[in-house]
Amino acid sequence: MITASFVQDPNFIRSAYILAFGLFIVGLMGLRHPRTAVRGNWIAAAGMAIAIGATLLIEGMGNWGLIALGIVIGTVVGVPAARNVRMTAMPQMVALFNGVGGGAIALIAWVEFRETAGFAHEPLYVAIASLFAAVVGSVSFWGSNIAFGKLQEILPGRPITLGRAQQVVNGALLLTCVALGVAIAAGGDDEILIIGLLVAAALLGNFVVLPIGGADMPVVISLLNAFTGLSAAAAGIALNNVAMIVAGMLVGASGSILTKLMADAMNRSIPNIVAGGFGGGGAVAGGGPADLEGKTVKSTSAADAAIQLSYASQVVIVPGYGMAVAQAQHAVRELAKELESRGIEVKYAIHPVAGRMPGHMNVLLAEADVPYDQLKEMDEINPEFPRTDVSLVIGANDVTNPAANSNPDSPIYGMPILNVNESGSVIVIKRSMNPGFAGIDNELYYDERTQMLFGDAKSAVGEIAEEVKGL
Ligand code: TAP
Repeated sequence: MITASFVQDPNFIRSAYILAFGLFIVGLMGLRHPRTAVRGNWIAAAGMAIAIGATLLIEGMGNWGLIALGIVIGTVVGVPAARNVRMTAMPQMVALFNGVGGGAIALIAWVEFRETAGFAHEPLYVAIASLFAAVVGSVSFWGSNIAFGKLQEILPGRPITLGRAQQVVNGALLLTCVALGVAIAAGGDDEILIIGLLVAAALLGNFVVLPIGGADMPVVISLLNAFTGLSAAAAGIALNNVAMIVAGMLVGASGSILTKLMADAMNRSIPNIVAGGFGGGGAVAGGGPADLEGKTVKSTSAADAAIQLSYASQVVIVPGYGMAVAQAQHAVRELAKELESRGIEVKYAIHPVAGRMPGHMNVLLAEADVPYDQLKEMDEINPEFPRTDVSLVIGANDVTNPAANSNPDSPIYGMPILNVNESGSVIVIKRSMNPGFAGIDNELYYDERTQMLFGDAKSAVGEIAEEVKGL
């Protein structure tokens, strides 16, 4: 009895929460470097376990059978999904899990509406926080589902828009959410009001993300991440739960910072992305520059590529999504070692949105023990291309497309790229002439200094390394 009342003491629960927050922050700090990221994840997960445990100790928690059922379902679905996911499918899984968080928050707001028979008898701040959580959580859930569909290639990666009507429709849906929210906060207790609000927010989530295409998805994914965090924090205010407020704000703040960094890296403005007002005003991102028609590409062999690389004094390796698909990072590291043993300087050019998630290339290359100081961010490596003998592009496409600099009609126009076309020669390893995520042709492949080495990245890099050894 004494033990039960001790662990249910609000001060004990608060202390457990403070311990959990400390672990969240130490865990987040671990995520700053690939080498400490796994430990950071475990530390933050331990913090979350403590926060959940402490919450369950709160008196009058509710229906234990349902809580146990929820935990079992979550564990049975979540653990195998996370253990079995392929590294290349990780971004869509993150989108899906993030969306589920937003959906849960929206449902909590709905349940609270029912429990309190509208928010008429609650303080105004509870109503406002709950309604904010309902709208933002619902937008995040539905928007994340669309992001999942685009990353999983169930939906086309190009923008899907209503044309000029898009902004009007989005504006009308936002106004509907605000009007229904005001009606509820003013004392409206008819359930149809909150259902209408959730449906309008659901449509808004779909319509905000569908028009975002190609290369701009990274910004929207981190934005939705921030939305889920902010909606959780708002629900925490409404429920007077400090753990939800702190955890939600950590996600909201880090997601917002990441969104800003991504938008800056892509030279985009966040309001424009949300309004769908760029990338050719919602034009369909198909095809490439018309003057590519009739042009030909030069292909090369592993043996030729090996000779060029062996005679270089500086080689820049440009990894992209294809390196992740092929899991070629270890082969790349072996080739780099071989070149370095011949006195060739090897650097890696890392574009901020290469791959399908922030830090994707850094994580893969760290796994293959590439020295961290050889990884060069875009701003650092771009001035080096003119004095680079060979750029070896491994499964990267959009992040090297010069159309971003030269073609105002291109959906990626304005996005900073790795200027590989300024190096002495370029060898591109990919399997075909298929486009990358943005769905557009790459003029780099038709450049007279570029040679294509068609094949899977892992086997092609392995073959080049063998040829280099034999020289
Ligand atoms: P992409 O432009 O997507 O191009 C990847 C290329 O890899 C494809 O053209 C593909 O050509 C090739 N490839 C696929 N599998 C391969 C394999 N096994 N071996 C060799 N090549 C292979 O990649 P990127 O340059 O890294 O650019 C990333 C794109 O994704 C950007 O548009 C970015 O905005 C978007 N995106 C990024 C993120 C984040 S946060 N990084 C999130 C969502 C979207 P083949 O089929 O011909 O082989």
